Amino acid sequence: MSSCFIFLLVYLSTSDYQFANRLRSFSFSFAQDDKAAREPSIAVALQTPAQNQSKPPIQTQPETPAQEQHVPSIPNTQEKEITVEEFEPSNGTIEERPVVQQIGPPISVSHEEEVKPIQEQFQPSVQVSQNDFISEQVQPSVPTTQKQEQLGVNGVKTKVFTKPSCDFSDFQFDLCDVEGDVHVHGRSSSVFLVTSLENYNSDANNETWSLRPHPRKYAVELMAEFREVKIKVADYAQVPKCDVVHNSAAIIFATGGLNGNYFHDFSDVLVPLFITSYQFKGEVHFLVSNMQVWFILKYMGILRKLSNYEVIDFDKEEQVHCYPRVIVGISKHKDLSVEPSRAPNNICTVEFSHFVKTVYSLERNVTIELGKQTATKPRLLIMGRNQTRVLINLEEIVQLIEVLGFEVAIGNDFMDVGTFAHLVNSVDVMMGVHGAGLTNFMFLPTNAVLIQIVPLGNYERASQYDFGEPAVDMGLKYLQYSISEEESTLTDLYPRDHVVFRDPESIQRQGWKTADGIYLKKQNVRLNITRFRPILESALDLLRH
Ligand SMILES: *[C@@H]1O[C@H](CO)[C@@H](O)[C@H](O)[C@H]1NC(C)=O
Ligand SMILES: *[C@@H]1O[C@H](CO)[C@@H](O)[C@H](O)[C@H]1NC(C)=O
Ligand SMILES: *[C@@H]1O[C@H](CO)[C@@H](O)[C@H](O)[C@H]1NC(C)=O
Ligand SMILES: *[C@@H]1O[C@H](CO)[C@@H](O)[C@H](O)[C@H]1NC(C)=O
Ligand SMILES: *[C@@H]1O[C@H](CO)[C@@H](O)[C@H](O)[C@H]1NC(C)=O
Ligand SMILES: *[C@@H]1O[C@H](CO)[C@@H](O)[C@H](O)[C@H]1NC(C)=O
Repeated sequence: MSSCFIFLLVYLSTSDYQFANRLRSFSFSFAQDDKAAREPSIAVALQTPAQNQSKPPIQTQPETPAQEQHVPSIPNTQEKEITVEEFEPSNGTIEERPVVQQIGPPISVSHEEEVKPIQEQFQPSVQVSQNDFISEQVQPSVPTTQKQEQLGVNGVKTKVFTKPSCDFSDFQFDLCDVEGDVHVHGRSSSVFLVTSLENYNSDANNETWSLRPHPRKYAVELMAEFREVKIKVADYAQVPKCDVVHNSAAIIFATGGLNGNYFHDFSDVLVPLFITSYQFKGEVHFLVSNMQVWFILKYMGILRKLSNYEVIDFDKEEQVHCYPRVIVGISKHKDLSVEPSRAPNNICTVEFSHFVKTVYSLERNVTIELGKQTATKPRLLIMGRNQTRVLINLEEIVQLIEVLGFEVAIGNDFMDVGTFAHLVNSVDVMMGVHGAGLTNFMFLPTNAVLIQIVPLGNYERASQYDFGEPAVDMGLKYLQYSISEEESTLTDLYPRDHVVFRDPESIQRQGWKTADGIYLKKQNVRLNITRFRPILESALDLLRH
C-alpha cells in the first residue's frame, strides 16, 4: 500500500511574521490530535477472549530513534487521573531527555537464585524416556517456519539449536528472541529454551537472561513495578513439560507504567507491540504481564487485529505453554513512530496509521483537495480540553475558523476510541493545545494537517518530539504555534516580570514536577486570533496541494 514517507518538518516560531510565506515553500506534514477517552483502571484480572482475524498486509516505513519524551498531560476526564509522579521528566530539550540512565544489561547471575527454585518446582522426572522426549518435542509441528523445517520430521535430534538472541543495548527496552523448543511458565515468569541433545553440556547450556518486558527501561523506579522474565537455556530434563503446545509464536510484554495516559498507551505499548508483532500476521500469542484489564478491553480491537489468539494473563498462568518462538519484550523506537531500519520487514509509521485505520474501519485516507471540490468545505477539528490548557476564547476561535471557510467540529473527551477515530478521520485539519489528546492524529487521513498549540514554558521541543515528528512520519502535515505571553492565562497569576515568563528554562531546571505543575497544569490559552490566523491560512494552503 503506502510507502514510507519522509517529510520535511518545519518548526514555526510564533514571533516570526514571515512564517506563512515560509510555509508555502516547504512540504509539511501534518498530523492530528485527538483525545480518546481513557478507561478507568480496573483491578480485576481476566483473560480476554481474542479472535482470529486476518492480518493486514505489511508495509515499510522509516523510523526515528526513540528517546525519552516528556509526558503530555491528559486532558481527558475519563482518563485515569495521572499524578505528577507518573509523568516522565520533561527536561525541555530533546538532548536532555535521552540522558536517561542507561541500565546495564541485566546480569544473569543475580537472578540465578530466583531461577533455581522455579526449576525445582518443575523438575520433571529425570527418567524421561527418549521416546517421550521426542514426541513432546515434535508436537509443535509448525511446518511453515524455517525453524521448524530445521527440526526435521522427527524432531529434536536434527534441530539446529540457536541461542536466544538478546539485545540489551537500547536505552528504552530489552528484548530477547527465543527460537526453538520454548517452554513458558507464566506464573513463575520463566521461559526455558530446550537445548538439543548435541548441545547438551555445551556452553550454551545453563545460560540465563532476564528482563522486564516494558519499554521504559531508563525509568528505573517505574520499572520496578514489572516482574522480571527469566530466560534459561537448559536441557530437556530440567525444563517443565508442556501442558499446551502451540504452533505459533508468542510475545511477552507488560502493561502498566504510564499506561492510562492515552499518549503512553500508544507510545509505550501499542506502537511497540505493533512493531514487534505485525510480522506474524496474527499468528502470535500475547502473554501479558502486569495485565491491566481495562487496557485489554479498551484496545481489544487493536489486539485482535494483531493476534488471532486469546490474550493470556501471564502472571497468573499456571500451565506450561510451549511455542516454537517467544519474543520477550517489545521494541520501542521513537514515540508513536516506527523506524523502518530497525523494524521487522522494515515497516514504517505510515503502516501503523493504515493499521489503526483498518482496526476502526476508517475509510477516508486522503483529505479533500481544495480547489478541486469547491462545493465541499474543509473540516477542522478542535481538540477540546476542559481542565488545563483550555482554549478559553473558543467561540471567537470558532468564528475565525468559520470565516476562513472551514466547517468546525469540536472533539469531546467522552467519546470512546472508535467514535473519536471516526470523528478525526472525517476532518482535514486537527488543532489543539499540547496534550495527550493529540495522539489521535493517527486517525487523520493522509495529507491532513495537525496544528499543535504550544503553551508557554519551553515545551516546543517536547511538542515536536511527541507529536510533530510522528505526525510527519505518518504522512501528515504539521504546523506548530507557540503562544505569546499575552495569550497565556499565566499572566493572570504572575506579574509580568516574574521568572515564570522571564526564564522558563530556569523553572524547567527545577524539575519537571515544578515546571509541569505551572506550565501544564495552571495554564489556559486565550488565542490571539490575529496572530493565529496565518496558521489557519497555511493549513488551507496545505490542503490545496
Ligand atoms: C480461527 O481460529 C479457529 C480455531 O483456532 C480456526 O479453526 C479458524 O480457522 C481460524 N480462523 C481464521 C480466519 O484464521
Ligand atoms: C469537562 O470535564 C468534566 C469532567 O471531565 C466534565 O464533567 C464536563 O462535562 C466537561 N465539560 C465540558 C464543557 O466538556
Ligand atoms: C548451572 O549454573 C549454576 C550456577 O551458575 C551451577 O551451579 C550449575 O551447576 C550449572 N548447571 C550445569 C548443568 O551446568
Ligand atoms: C485507502 O486505503 C486503502 C487501504 O489502505 C487502499 O486500498 C486504498 O487504495 C486507499 N485509497 C486511496 C484513495 O488512497
Ligand atoms: C534534566 O536533566 C539533567 C541531566 O541532563 C538531570 O540532572 C535533571 O535532573 C533533569 N531535570 C529534570 C527536571 O528532570
Ligand atoms: C495580537 O497579535 C497581533 C499580531 O501579532 C498583535 O499586533 C496584537 O497586539 C496582539 N493582540 C494582543 C492583545 O496581544
